[in-house]
Amino acid sequence: MSRTRPLWAVIPAAGAGERFGGDVPKQYLPLLGRTVLEWAIRPFQARADVAGIIVAISAADDHWPGICLSSDRIQAVQGGPQRAHSVVAGLNALSGKADARDWVLVHDAARPCLTDEDLDRLVDAAAESCGGLLAAPVQDTLKAADNGAVARTVDREGLWRALPPQRVRMEELASALHRAEPAGCLAPDEAAAKERMGHRPRIVPGRADNIKITRPEDLALAEFIISQAGIARCGLAR
Ligand code: CTP
Ligand code: MG
Repeated sequence: MSRTRPLWAVIPAAGAGERFGGDVPKQYLPLLGRTVLEWAIRPFQARADVAGIIVAISAADDHWPGICLSSDRIQAVQGGPQRAHSVVAGLNALSGKADARDWVLVHDAARPCLTDEDLDRLVDAAAESCGGLLAAPVQDTLKAADNGAVARTVDREGLWRALPPQRVRMEELASALHRAEPAGCLAPDEAAAKERMGHRPRIVPGRADNIKITRPEDLALAEFIISQAGIARCGLAR
């Protein structure tokens, strides 16, 4: 049974946070007494069935040694120029440890508000399927624009916002990402890489407030969500 296989986590954390700006990359900014990255790793560290957590960091990263993640399950590797390269670097680090049929959970370092309940649901759903992803239904009315003016309204029926983590088999993710790169078309996320191979990852409804820190105003929002969702009460293993 797949459920008894170990899980692995890959956390791409090699981005420069250009839209956020500032001197410190957003994943290392303080948030309720820890860094954004520590909050992003927390739910994976909390699970006994996660055998290893690979964090892909930038070659220029001098913040990683300063954070307190003393666990032999956590390993840092050098990421790449785009998120997909960083995910591939994480997978390469797993290749000697994980079995091809093991599940890999890919989450963003910039997403600190993932709840244990959402992660449970993703892990429990579709154990025998070709993986899945958390997602929230689109609530807003969508407009397609052309030259700054509304061209048409897009029907939001059946549209979902993809919210990491995504859950993918080691072998399938590796081949999807490796296959995409030579063609010069890096997929925006792991599910998209698999869709290109004809797979249909399962949509697992998740909390809409599993936000990504992109711009400065998102940090205060994340602080509020972590406090309100009871995530802060879970604390952080050190
Ligand atoms: N990421 C990565 N390697 C890259 C680029 C991004 O590991 N070369 C990671 C980021 O660290 C982040 C996640 O991918 O955890 C999502 O990317 P994004 O929010 O775009 O972060 P940045 O690329 O850092 O931000 P920006 O695009 O504004 O520069
Ligand atoms: Mg980016």
